[in-house]
Formats: sequence, structure tokens, C-alpha cells
Amino acid sequence: MGQNRIAYSPVSIQPLSAIRNPLSALMDFIDLKTQYRRIQPQMNERIQAVLNHGQFILGAEHGELEKRLALYAGVKHCIGAASGTDTLLIALMALNIGPGDEVITTPFTFIATGEMIALAGARCVFVDIDPVTYNIDPKKIERAITPRTKAIMPVSLYGQCADFDAINAIARKHNLPVIEDGAQSFGASYRGKRSCGVSTIGSASFFPSKPLGAYGDGGALFTDDDTLAKLMSEIRVHGQDRRYHHPRLGLNGRLDTLQAAVLLAKLDIFDDEVAARGRIGGRYSQLINATIPQVTTPRLSDGCTSVYAQYTIEVPHRNDVEVAMKSRGIPTAVHYPIPLHLQPVFAGLGYRAGDFPIAEKAGGCVLSLPMHPYLSEADQDKVVQALKEAVSG
Ligand SMILES: Cc1ncc(COP(=O)(O)O)c(C=O)c1O
Repeated sequence: MGQNRIAYSPVSIQPLSAIRNPLSALMDFIDLKTQYRRIQPQMNERIQAVLNHGQFILGAEHGELEKRLALYAGVKHCIGAASGTDTLLIALMALNIGPGDEVITTPFTFIATGEMIALAGARCVFVDIDPVTYNIDPKKIERAITPRTKAIMPVSLYGQCADFDAINAIARKHNLPVIEDGAQSFGASYRGKRSCGVSTIGSASFFPSKPLGAYGDGGALFTDDDTLAKLMSEIRVHGQDRRYHHPRLGLNGRLDTLQAAVLLAKLDIFDDEVAARGRIGGRYSQLINATIPQVTTPRLSDGCTSVYAQYTIEVPHRNDVEVAMKSRGIPTAVHYPIPLHLQPVFAGLGYRAGDFPIAEKAGGCVLSLPMHPYLSEADQDKVVQALKEAVSG
């Protein structure tokens, strides 16, 4: 067999409906073990194939994954990368964004979004969020645009795309590129398109707990633009356009072949995992809306699905609810308690408490519940019962 051929022969995979995860006293917030048991032979075979051919950097699985992911997202180009953090930096570098430039983004996100804008040397200009979707509010974007604005970077938080129709319309009017931070939303649909295929550049994370997760760090960039695709694939490898020739700065931002192999095995079950996520998220909302009126459940915009990277609700007296859930054996998490404009690292930007009241309010009351495609109805019932008791004190 030639070195670049992949020794892989798919065998049949158990349907998701046949999976029975054992009831355990301690529930997982995200269960990756059941998923592995389901695809163990396929996963092992994929990994073994890489160990056999030994092309650990940019091996054949890497190219195969890029092709499949581009098809999945409905774009011309996919560029594998080392993480969802690196992808954001690579996208900004490809757009030549640096000192003196401004990038408009949301304050209600994981640190990496703002961090990479700052690391590129640009200034984060925050715009408050929509109180229903938690994504950047397009109605507030235009007034934040200045002659220094070089891009808009919305985040598709918790697994639902931001309002790209409205955002792209503003971007077109001002001739600005849009980078979707789709770290949490790969697999979600937006009005007939897919997350990471809805803007100039899409950026995905394959951190293990993400809806499509590697067994380590990983990420990918998506675009229809041939020039940007070439630039991003060069920046990913030290700005190299041919061996040992470097017209620009770059970084070591490649996705390992082993992680590409892991992702290929998981892609085979991604569609039904995405469907299960939708089903489980919908069932949570139904149960909670019917029995716990004090809690606000996630709301989907017209024509949108969510992959529920997080199933996140709003609760009163969040700290007490967290403690009460923990005492009942239910893990929870807060995504995210402190909006970026109030993070110490961004103090130099001069923002203050009260500048983005909707993000600040959300940061004070959101709570994420256990969520993964293998969550059983019995475990879900346990979570909702514990939540009901926790909320009613
Ligand atoms: C919104 C958002 N952006 C960026 C990232 C960074 O991704 P990674 O952990 O793959 O670097 C994450 C990861 O949690 C994220 O949630």
C-alpha cells in the first residue's frame, strides 16, 4: 500500500437508539466514554492506520477530513488547524488585521474570541447581546463601526448561529469581512446553511467536549474565498508558501493527523448525534417549561437549529441552585460568569460595569445542565427533578 493511502475499512456502527449507558451515581456533564464504546472498533482502526503509516503531520487523514468538513459546511475550502483559538488568530492574520484596527465582537463569550483580537494587535470593540439568543445584537452593530473597523466577529454561542442575515447585510454595506466564531456551533443549521458556512470565514473548535470533538485540541477554518484559503493554509504553517520560503509571518497551527483520524471516525456518527442533541435539548425545554416556571429555557430563532454545545438556562439565585444541584449529584457549569469587557486583561480598553447590561445580566444568571447525545431520558428526568427542587429552595 502507498504511504498516503488510508488503511481503513468501515464496519457497521450501532445505531444511537441501541446505546444503553449504565446508570451511575455520578452523572457526567459530558459523556465521551459512551460515544467511544459505540465506535470503538472504527476509532481504533482509524488511529491504528495512522500509527501504521507514520505520517503524523498533514498525513492523508488530514486531507480527507478537510474535504469532508468542507462538504459538510457547504463551502469550497476547509483548513484544519491546531485549535479553535489558533483558527481565530489565523483568520485575523489572513485579513491583515493588526495594530490600529478594530474588530467588533460580543462581550458574552469564551475568552479566546477577544483574546485573539488583542493578540493580533487590534482593539476589541464590544457590542451588547440579544437577550433571547445571547448572540451579538445586530441592531447595535452599526453604531460601533468606525473608519478603523476591519471586521465583525460574531460568536454562535451555545450552539445556535448568530443572526447572520442581519450581520452580513451590515458587513456588506460597510465592506467588512465577517468571521464566525463557530467554536460551539459546528453542526447547527442557519436558514438552509450550516454554521461555519454563513460568513466570509467560519472558525470551528474540536476541543474534546465540543459537539464534534477530537481526543485533544483541534480546529478548522472554512471559506469560499480562494485567496483567503491560500493565505490561511500558509499562515497555519509559519507563513510558508513553499518549503522554507516565508513571505509572511505565521505560526505552527496544524491539526495532527491522529486528531484528524479521530474526527473522521466521529464524523460517521455526527449527523445522528446532532439529531440527538436537538431531541434532548427540546425535551429538556419541554419538561422545564411545563414544571419550573421560574426558569428560562433556550429559544431558537426562526430557521435555526442548535447543537446545544451547552444547554443553558436562566435561573434565579444561581449560586444556591448550583450548590443544591451539586448536592443532588448533578454537575452544572456557568458559561460565562464575567463578560469580556469586565475581565482584568481587558481593563485597558476602558469599559465599565453597566456598559453592556444584557451581557452582564446573563453572566449573573445563566447555568448549563448536563448535555450530550447519550443522555438517557431517565438521567434527564433526574436533572429536571433536581432543578425543580433546587429552584424552589
Ligand atoms: C466561543 C469560543 N471561541 C473559541 C474557543 C477556543 O477553542 P479551542 O479551545 O479549541 O482553542 C472556544 C472554546 O471553548 C469557544 O467556546
